[in-house]
Amino acid sequence: MIQTSPVATIARLREHVGQVVTLRGWAVHLRSSGKIRFVVLRDGTGIAQGVLIKGHLPEEDFAAFEELTLESSLTLTGRVKAEPRAPGGFELEVSGLQLIHIAQEYPIQPKEHGVGFLMDHRHLWLRSPRQQAILRVRDEVCRACRDFFHERDFVLIDTPILTPTACEGTTSLFETDYLGRGKAYLSQSGQLYLEAAAMALGRVYCFGPTFRAEKSKTRRHLTEFWMVEAEAAFYTLEDLLALTEELVSYIVARVLAHREEELALLERDTAPLKAVTKPFPRLSYTEAVARLKEQGMKMEWGEDFGGDEETLLSRMFAAPVIVHRYPRRAKAFYMEADPENPELALCVDMLAPEGYGEIIGGSQRVADLEVLLARLQEYGLPREPFEWYLDLRRYGSVPHSGFGLGIERTVAWLCGLKHVREAIPFPRLLDRLYP
Ligand code: 4AD
Ligand code: MG
Repeated sequence: MIQTSPVATIARLREHVGQVVTLRGWAVHLRSSGKIRFVVLRDGTGIAQGVLIKGHLPEEDFAAFEELTLESSLTLTGRVKAEPRAPGGFELEVSGLQLIHIAQEYPIQPKEHGVGFLMDHRHLWLRSPRQQAILRVRDEVCRACRDFFHERDFVLIDTPILTPTACEGTTSLFETDYLGRGKAYLSQSGQLYLEAAAMALGRVYCFGPTFRAEKSKTRRHLTEFWMVEAEAAFYTLEDLLALTEELVSYIVARVLAHREEELALLERDTAPLKAVTKPFPRLSYTEAVARLKEQGMKMEWGEDFGGDEETLLSRMFAAPVIVHRYPRRAKAFYMEADPENPELALCVDMLAPEGYGEIIGGSQRVADLEVLLARLQEYGLPREPFEWYLDLRRYGSVPHSGFGLGIERTVAWLCGLKHVREAIPFPRLLDRLYP
């Protein structure tokens, strides 16, 4: 194929008005009207309309239109015209059309499909405008996280996926045989390794996939999800609360500033997102339980919150709510006890508003060797694989704190999704490993 005109992307068509360019993409809409043919093309950056007028392009190119089907790939060459009435706002006065591949009958039609069907066709479903918009919001969230930490001198540390121990409880571990040498587990969190790195570099973060063999089938649970985690030496719980609040307001502001178009396509009401301003409300766990009981929720002091409690709590405030100092027994082994009340952990959960629930979990960490040894026993964890972690309390132990933010739950909230499964390109759920 001889390419004589510059290849452009649809997102940049405004820079080419009046010029002849070539676009490469897929047909999403085809229409005929008398001697005119219309092709709406998508190229991943946007959509634009190609107008084919008989006589204005070679006869065989005009005839090729008849072969086109939904999702066929092709190139269009033509002069760019701003046309507010056209989908995407630009039109191509087509002077050349080359077929690349004629698509078979496309399974996803412009009609209602069930979620099961769409999930089975996730590899194709990603092409739809709504899914593209969600993935662009996700990209912005991830970028915002990285920028946030780098602007604050946190160093990226890549923590391992194969680990010899649990971090977040043994019931949700994915187990695998490690080359016949014993068991290995897929990482539930990079935290323990991040603690080691924080003692080397001060402020660190990791960003990667984490795995939980969650038997729960809820709208908030994936078995593989992405988490950005931060850890900082000398940070107390108070420092940590401020950092989580800053991060979440930073992410929200970035998405509002850069992804307005996508949020509009998703029909996300942005008023509740604009209402996310610092300071966020703060409640102790004990206060939160009292609030829940006032609302008629039956629960005992001492239990962790379930989905219903989180939903109710997160509906009480316009901004994310910071719940701190949960009962130690309901939380992980590594959390520092509150010196004011050792029954409580110096920990935090942040619950996103509008019923979205927990997006962040974090804490100050046990700094003392003897206390940590006792904790391993109390939680029924073996000492040997944790020796390296205990070393952090043998050589210059300092107070330190960290947290993890779940990317999919954050994206689900920002996009207004009903379920986290749409917030990740290829979701892994209790009952889904395909495609
Ligand atoms: O509260 P979690 O379990 O905290 C930790 O893993 C800590 N080690 C993090 C740290 O302190 N470095 O998980 C953190 C966040 C949750 O708040 C939630 O947003 C997300 O990870 N998350 C999940 N997201 C989707 N599916 C699941 N099954 C999730 N489990 C946790
Ligand atoms: Mg948690």
